[in-house]
Amino acid sequence: MTEYRYALIIGASSGTGLALAQSLASKGTRVALVARRADRLKEACDQINKAAGAAIATAYPYDVQDSTGVPALMQQILQELGGLDLVVYSAGIMPSATASEYSIEDDLAVLETNLLGAVAWLNEAARLFSKQQKGTIVGLTSVSGDRGRRGTRAYGASKAGLTTYLESLRNSLTVQGVHVATIKLGYVATDMIAGQKLPRFLPVISPEEAAQQILAVANSKQQTVYIPRIWQAIMALIKATPSPLFRKLNI
Ligand SMILES: NC(=O)c1ccc[n+]([C@@H]2O[C@H](COP(=O)([O-])OP(=O)(O)OC[C@H]3O[C@@H](n4cnc5c(N)ncnc54)[C@H](OP(=O)(O)O)[C@@H]3O)[C@@H](O)[C@H]2O)c1
Repeated sequence: MTEYRYALIIGASSGTGLALAQSLASKGTRVALVARRADRLKEACDQINKAAGAAIATAYPYDVQDSTGVPALMQQILQELGGLDLVVYSAGIMPSATASEYSIEDDLAVLETNLLGAVAWLNEAARLFSKQQKGTIVGLTSVSGDRGRRGTRAYGASKAGLTTYLESLRNSLTVQGVHVATIKLGYVATDMIAGQKLPRFLPVISPEEAAQQILAVANSKQQTVYIPRIWQAIMALIKATPSPLFRKLNI
């Protein structure tokens, strides 16, 4: 039996967002899937609906870099799905860049997708859930938001901004019965990090494992959680590293 009857996943065509949609649907939740790649969304919805034996998944192809169309699309999703009690913002990009590249085009795309898109969609979720006096909002942010690293300037800034925005949402909405969960993800084996050379001693989990842990956090109404949990200790060390030393480390 599912905790949620209706869920909206933004960034659901691959990776963690797709695994979340599949996991929720396998327990009977009706799901709306948003992302740009219409073919991937259709394939995912066909597979979910076939497994469920009913049309419980619907695709909504959309580019989150266009925030103007979000209120109308949110209303359409709400009506077609029949309600909403969980909204997950999973959309994100991390263009590969060396520490010496400074591309405003890439950085704007990162900020528009990872931060401004999140604000546009989650503002709508907040408006709806505060009216309903219930609902769950989950934002997928990153350990990269905890410290300004060389190679992920705009990405880290977008995730730090998202973390702070989610805290503000929580402080606004908790009194209205709405739960806001901030997920600080470590490495998840998705397209986003495919081909990257990662330190061998750090854990990499599957998107299915990440989805399971994210839903456990949402269900148990925890607020800010590192997934996998080991990252809490790793980031405590990294956050405690003095700036002059951190600057010398190539991490
Ligand atoms: N993988 C990791 O190690 C890791 C670590 C920390 C945090 N995260 C975060 O986890 C979240 C999920 O990423 P993932 O690992 O599952 O990577 P992924 O497989 O690349 O998934 C990213 C999702 O975002 C969607 N997306 C990207 N740009 C979009 C746009 N302009 N409009 C609409 N949708 C867009 C993609 O769909 P389309 O391309 O079809 O639009 C895709 O569904 C991201 O926020 C990421 O920053 C990941």
